[in-house]
Amino acid sequence: MLSIRELTKTFASPSGELAAVDRISFDVAPGEFFTMLGPSGCGKTTTLRMIAGLETPTSGAIAFDGRDYTRVPPQQRNIGMVFQSYALFPHLSVFENVAYGLRNRGVKGTELERRVAEVLGALQLDGFKTRLPSTLSGGQQQRVSIARALVYRPSMLLLDEPLANLDAKLRIQMREEIRRIQREFGILSLYVTHDQEEAMAISDRLALFNAGRLVQIGRPGDLYRQPATLFAADFIGRANFFAARLAGRDASGAKIALAGGPELTVARVVALAPEEAARVPADVDGLLMARPERIGIAPGSRGIRARIGRMQQLGGCQRYIVAAEAAVGEVTVDSWRAGEEYGEGADAALTLDGSDCVLFLRPEKSA
Ligand SMILES: Nc1ncnc2c1ncn2[C@@H]1O[C@H](COP(=O)(O)OP(=O)(O)O)[C@@H](O)[C@H]1O
Ligand SMILES: [Mg+2]
Repeated sequence: MLSIRELTKTFASPSGELAAVDRISFDVAPGEFFTMLGPSGCGKTTTLRMIAGLETPTSGAIAFDGRDYTRVPPQQRNIGMVFQSYALFPHLSVFENVAYGLRNRGVKGTELERRVAEVLGALQLDGFKTRLPSTLSGGQQQRVSIARALVYRPSMLLLDEPLANLDAKLRIQMREEIRRIQREFGILSLYVTHDQEEAMAISDRLALFNAGRLVQIGRPGDLYRQPATLFAADFIGRANFFAARLAGRDASGAKIALAGGPELTVARVVALAPEEAARVPADVDGLLMARPERIGIAPGSRGIRARIGRMQQLGGCQRYIVAAEAAVGEVTVDSWRAGEEYGEGADAALTLDGSDCVLFLRPEKSA
């Protein structure tokens, strides 16, 4: 198991010390696929490089299988790494690219042949042994770089935005492929991406970062349904916000009233941090968050009054971008009902179920 404790890395910058990674802690279980997700510059690569030993932590600790790794040199960590740039040797064949590190470690003869053949087989690269990297597609080149990382039989695999150079369709294929390989090898994997959809699709658990801090850790569905901050609600999936007044509380949750709308009971209540409370309109107590597929839309006026702005046909569902009475910003509604389409400019009513929503309350209202 991998254990990260209070890990911190500061860099000198023109405006003083910058905490690229700020006291983060998490554990990754054996065989787990764990993703670090967050916007560009939030500290994902720096964290990965500290785990690999390529960057020295300013403070904090990294332990693996009970051993303190914090100051262990990279070559003694037995870690496989895969980067966005495939970093293959252009003049060496696929076989030699994969064999390179093993040769350096003194593996040769039939043992070398066997181990290279084994990973090439697992990555479905058997037919490409003698090819040069330049004759392969981007996806195949990335498979070679994964084969090269796995051929050492590392105890951990670190992947830093490995799909960022591929086109959208191939990215989706390759992420399935990476997940299949990871399961086959049963190897603890740490994956870095800024793409929330990719992170959701591929991970056992994920850690959401923002500005060097850990915002939330959990399974993809938990982060989607129960975001811990407004940042998490916005960054993962789409979030709609409604201005809410607190009417009371009981064992089943918070009773709230929406401006011009119905009363709801919400069980999932989150206290906002002061810096996020500024997003709550002055005259209300908090923001109610609802996902697009959890909002009902119907003609008439039974519910929150709304007007359709745009409609997008997404294939399986219709997406409406609407202006709604109680909403803060525009509202996205995904409707799965077949045969019902509302034209742009039409009046409609939105309905919410409190059990699908999260209520973010001003800190002073959360007690
Ligand atoms: N070697 C370095 N020197 C100074 N600042 C750095 C260095 N490496 C990273 N940073 C800064 O640390 C922050 C986090 O960077 P990084 O870990 O690469 O983010 P991410 O991978 O999430 O995009 C950024 O503000 C970046 O500019
Ligand atoms: Mg990065």
